[in-house]
Amino acid sequence: MPLTKEIIENTIQPHGGTLINREAEATLKEELLTAAESLPSITLNPWSLSDLELIGIGGFSPLTGFMNEADYTEVVEHVHLSNGLVWSIPITLPVTEDKANELDIGSRVALYGEDNHLYGVLELEEKYTYDKEKEAQYVYGTTDIDHPGVLKVYEKGSVYLAGPIHLLDRPKHDDFVDYHLDPSETRQLFYDLNWQTIVGFQTRNPVHRAHEYIQKAALESVDGLLLNPLVGETKSDDIPAEVRMESYEAILKNYFPENRTRLVIYPAAMRYAGPREAILHATVRKNYGCTHFIVGRDHAGVGDYYGTYEAQELIAQYEAELGIQILKFEHAFYCETCENMATAKTCPHEASAHLHLSGTKVREKLRNGETLPKAFSRPEVAEVLIRGLQEK
Ligand code: ADX
Repeated sequence: MPLTKEIIENTIQPHGGTLINREAEATLKEELLTAAESLPSITLNPWSLSDLELIGIGGFSPLTGFMNEADYTEVVEHVHLSNGLVWSIPITLPVTEDKANELDIGSRVALYGEDNHLYGVLELEEKYTYDKEKEAQYVYGTTDIDHPGVLKVYEKGSVYLAGPIHLLDRPKHDDFVDYHLDPSETRQLFYDLNWQTIVGFQTRNPVHRAHEYIQKAALESVDGLLLNPLVGETKSDDIPAEVRMESYEAILKNYFPENRTRLVIYPAAMRYAGPREAILHATVRKNYGCTHFIVGRDHAGVGDYYGTYEAQELIAQYEAELGIQILKFEHAFYCETCENMATAKTCPHEASAHLHLSGTKVREKLRNGETLPKAFSRPEVAEVLIRGLQEK
């Protein structure tokens, strides 16, 4: 449903000023569905399919399609689109050189998923090759193929296809139907709830006590919390999204006020690009209608590739341009002397009293069949995770 003028004027501006909607309306959809049968086609992997969806529903506003070379180069080198808007991660459609040679500029290309379902159509305006090493170095800060995002760069096709897209159908997200809202819908929701200030929280992990602490600290000064877990492709040792979703339901039900929190999926692939991805995460949450966004320790990081506060430092450089307020939190831990969650800013005790939490530690303990201490995880969450992982 299109947003009313009142909502458009009374909620935070989307990135670039207009909330993009590339879902083909009925007549065009009919035309494209018929045309698709005779169009050249490509099969999107889950990563590209989630990019298609996010462009289509406006999560990646102002993008209307996959990036052309001018935007790509500007994003990689200077963290901006060629129109001057801040943008930190290339949103591109890779194919092999052979596939690219079959496709003509100016033609339409049918976009199928790996399930052979037709999800969209690309208006092919440009094809270009790119320098993988440069992309890895600039975007991920490393060319090490042990980095899961960098490995993806080296694995993908060597030609990018560019042009506007039409979204014909949405990936189903069957496991999450109740939590599957588009940016226009979250904006409507916040308006209906009369939330003027909304903090967005990105996570690819179950919510542990440090997450809860920083969410609640933020919630003390805004109207509402959008718990917005990433449910697209993650690396294989991350906890599957279906298990995590149940754990989010458990923590919200037992430890958060219902009228101040909402759970909505973020259907993107995880890049693990640390500082650069923190900027993308904030940009997208602005499109979903958030006025604030949390960046804690090693946001979107993996292994030891990024410093604890590198994401906060980079995003601080672009905060004014981004137009969403970034709430930065120090590394939070459980202090046995305080008997509370704390950070170096709020706790005077020796490090020996501090229990440090991270998604990695939670995953390790679960894998080893260890129970999760209360200081790590709420028991209701731990129970869901243990059961969910056993079932898997
Ligand atoms: S992420 O890859 O999705 O960013 P994760 O789910 O671990 O990873 O983190 C979600 C958010 O919580 C990020 O902003 C991250 O910086 C923050 N965070 C995670 N653990 C801590 C912690 N112990 N202290 C402070 N912030 C944290």
